[in-house]
Amino acid sequence: MTDRRKLIIDTDPGIDDAVAVLMALACDEFDLIGLTTVFGNAAVDATTRNAHAILHAARRSDLPIVRGASTPLAGTYAGPVPHIHGTDGLGDGGVARPAISRDDPGPAAMFLCEQINRSPGDVHILALGPLTNLALALRLDPSLSGKVASVTLMGGNAFCAGNATPCAEANFLGDPEAGDIVLGAVWPVAMIGLDVTQKIVLDADALSEITCGSSAVASLLRAVIPCYRRFFGATNGIDGLLCHDPSAVAFLIRPDLFEKKSWPMRVETQGISRGKTWPDVGATDRPAKAWQDRRPVSVAVGADYPTISRVIVERLRRLL
Ligand code: BDR
Ligand code: CA
Repeated sequence: MTDRRKLIIDTDPGIDDAVAVLMALACDEFDLIGLTTVFGNAAVDATTRNAHAILHAARRSDLPIVRGASTPLAGTYAGPVPHIHGTDGLGDGGVARPAISRDDPGPAAMFLCEQINRSPGDVHILALGPLTNLALALRLDPSLSGKVASVTLMGGNAFCAGNATPCAEANFLGDPEAGDIVLGAVWPVAMIGLDVTQKIVLDADALSEITCGSSAVASLLRAVIPCYRRFFGATNGIDGLLCHDPSAVAFLIRPDLFEKKSWPMRVETQGISRGKTWPDVGATDRPAKAWQDRRPVSVAVGADYPTISRVIVERLRRLL
């Protein structure tokens, strides 16, 4: 048996979050030690309930789910995105969602600190929503950055347009200040952003493959996918899903399928470009002071897109 990497997923389910969490559960490379939730695709109470529904479908209700931030570090939560993820965050497909218990351990930032300090050097973090919980954890315990095995995040756009605004990707727009803290911390970060995730598609055939059968997972996927599929049909003109969050899981198990480059990164926190992730590619005619002293972040800039789509399907099929 290979060494299983301890993994915490910080998530805002969210339809593609649901697919990503299920995919991670199907990966024997990981020992998933908990989910932390954050506002984003829906309010944090909803994303927490959704996390419970996802684990229930996968028969993994034994795993801790820890409720996290309800608002970004600065400003207020902009609200859910019913046209993308439904009013319930799971596509309004009738998924039964348990009521959440106020007795949950928490908050998420504290759970992250506890787990990482319990196993220094061993815990990997996969962040699939706004980065508020991670920034709060660093604020609680600045030594954390030296104790995390890796941080992989879905979010950002280095060299392409945004999806939430012309400039910004949704997770970074959700909390640009937290994003800037996370990209600036001295820990090994990989950014899996729109540069690649917008090209990783589950087409109609792939969707048929992951929704067939009578398992609880297939039935959850059948319930949540239509809303997301309608959105991409209307917005991107495709019959299928763009696989944002599952692509970051694919990166953790098959990094060889991604082309990466490393640059210091900043996040715009002002004006119409709020939420834009900016690499310092080193082509300026004067020192880039705002990027100085930042450790390079590994940024996915290309990938074997069709193979990654297959990997996502094959892993999900293990749960059907
Ligand atoms: C990201 O934003 C959310 O809508 C998705 O769940 C994903 O994490 C894509 O920009
Ligand atoms: Ca997400």
